[in-house]
Amino acid sequence: MTQILAHRGFSAAFPENTMKSFIEAEKAGADGLEIDVQLTKDGEVVVIHDEKVDRTTNGIGFVKDLTYRDLQRLDASYKNKKWLTKEPIPAFSKLLEWLTTNTLTCNVELKNGIFPYTGMEEKVISLIRHYKLEDRIILSSFNHYSIVNCYRLAPEIETAPLYSEGIYMPWIYAQSIKSKGIHPKLIAAPNEIILRAMENGIAVRPYTVNKEKDMQRLFEVGCTAFITDNPVKALEIKEKRPR
Ligand code: G3P
Ligand code: MG
Repeated sequence: MTQILAHRGFSAAFPENTMKSFIEAEKAGADGLEIDVQLTKDGEVVVIHDEKVDRTTNGIGFVKDLTYRDLQRLDASYKNKKWLTKEPIPAFSKLLEWLTTNTLTCNVELKNGIFPYTGMEEKVISLIRHYKLEDRIILSSFNHYSIVNCYRLAPEIETAPLYSEGIYMPWIYAQSIKSKGIHPKLIAAPNEIILRAMENGIAVRPYTVNKEKDMQRLFEVGCTAFITDNPVKALEIKEKRPR
């Protein structure tokens, strides 16, 4: 059964990467979440997509130049016109603590492609181990050096490289970096690639899948999972499908 992972939480309806969007994704019936993490100036792992706080909050500046205390003063719902209640930028630990109360899968995307965030992988892994969530987390990144480092640090946690253009026989590439999955941009995930990867034991979770026709295709082909802004729409389509 194709799993539905809520991209930045239920971000089609709630402020992205906030506890509100995670809680609403779980309530809606999503199988899991996709979230993004960055590192603050004082070394706290926080859940936010961009290197800068400008797009999603009422603050300005790079996450790496702000302390966790600075970030706590910001409102991560400020730029979301559909949502009026203040929402904090979550500490990664807060999200993990909440995950212990449910059964969601969580794809943690390490946003270390622009700034390397020395030590971030160690911190992320140590927190996952602290909450004993190793078997419910998938670590992904566009930085494939980081994927290899995550495997070296924690071979018990699944990893998956993210990519946006075609890779030749990506299942072989995934195996070569010890990943059990691949996270291609939807355009790089035609059915033949999905099927060959899955036949070779590699899970495929394309992003970001928001159109009905694309969801239908992925359900039809039996893709492992897909990452969507709108888990409610995906579930409606899934439930209407013949069994
Ligand atoms: O992990 C899938 C997707 O989130 C990758 O792109 O920019 O939305 O983090 P982005
Ligand atoms: Mg992401």
